[in-house]
Amino acid sequence: MAGKDDDFVVTPWEVSGKVDYDRLIELFGTERIDKKLRARIYRLAGEKHILLERELFFSHRDLKWVFDEYEKGNKFFLYTGRGPSGSVHIGHLVPWMFTKWLQDRFDTPLYFQLTNDEKFWFNPELSIDQVKQFTYDNALDVIAVGFEPEKTYLINDIEHIDILYEIGVQVARKITFSTAKAAFGFENSMNIGGIWWPALQAVPAFLHSWIYGTKTPCVIPCAIDQDPYWRVTRDVAERLGYYKPASIQNKFVPGLQEGGKMSASDPMSAVLTTDKPKLARKKVMNAFTGGRATAKEQRELGANPDICSVFKYYQFIFMPDDNELNKIEQQCRSGEILCGECKQILASRMIDFLEKHQAAREEAKERVHEFSAARLRDEIKR
Ligand code: TYM
Repeated sequence: MAGKDDDFVVTPWEVSGKVDYDRLIELFGTERIDKKLRARIYRLAGEKHILLERELFFSHRDLKWVFDEYEKGNKFFLYTGRGPSGSVHIGHLVPWMFTKWLQDRFDTPLYFQLTNDEKFWFNPELSIDQVKQFTYDNALDVIAVGFEPEKTYLINDIEHIDILYEIGVQVARKITFSTAKAAFGFENSMNIGGIWWPALQAVPAFLHSWIYGTKTPCVIPCAIDQDPYWRVTRDVAERLGYYKPASIQNKFVPGLQEGGKMSASDPMSAVLTTDKPKLARKKVMNAFTGGRATAKEQRELGANPDICSVFKYYQFIFMPDDNELNKIEQQCRSGEILCGECKQILASRMIDFLEKHQAAREEAKERVHEFSAARLRDEIKR
């Protein structure tokens, strides 16, 4: 959603144009993560995190309250998710890597929703077998990120609907069709599965409190495109006897082509976690950069890292060392390094990263059951 005069769009279904994140904070009514809040997170976590330092996690709802509660001894749980409509790309891993850090530092349970029902309703070209297959494939990526099995519950919506349904029916009764239309822009042509969907995405924000009968704060790490869901969820929370979920929101890893976010539906814009090294290198070597038309011009005038997708990849994942990042930025601006060389550096790191991730994905095949939310059935007393 963006205002009439804005030349970008951010909804759960579309991210396009040059996203103005300051404007989004205003439009969505979230809060900026400022220096003071960052320092507080570092103090409680016991270390810094580059995604916060570089303001790539930039916006939140209610985090200050969550940490007030935490300091009083009221711990929180984490909730995040994935809509399995295809392969996972590098951008999806950003909120998950940060979620893992939060889980490690704050020793929290994590509810991870795999929304095969959502993707079936919203993508008419996908069959039920396809969304089920993607659910399994994507679960391997989630596990490969390294979450703690004892504390992580992968919710496969179609398979585990019995765990979600009792809360779902209560949430759904509190959301009118006109609220859903206003928040999500639904039109009459939307199938009724899609219209019920926002109630179900709200459920895991209350699941821990419902199962254990203790009102527990929830923190949702995700990109800012999911915020409309949290507005609706927060709206119903207190009326159902739960806390409003808090969230911590990241910017988008851009596509490798000019404009927009990385999107699996545009294959050359996205490096998929399952890409073979040769293909990943090809995608990186074709990336949009802030370079000049000729090498001579670039040597003389320098290039522009501010608009360069390669530089953004360094910032998000591939150059965690600030000294190294500053150096390459300076070399770029001064024309000392050309785009081809810079892309080669990213391609090598990307391949290294993918090889490790793919090995972890292979190992995950033996361990899917360890993470299954089916375990929660034993905890639920009806
Ligand atoms: P999905 O599958 O579209 O996205 C999964 C997660 O990745 C984030 N994301 C990105 N982050 C950085 N750069 C990008 N280019 C990028 N593209 C997507 C999304 O914000 C999300 O965090 N409806 C959801 C599934 C869901 C969910 C949740 C997500 C259910 N419950 C709770 C987050 C939190 C979906 O389709 O996400």
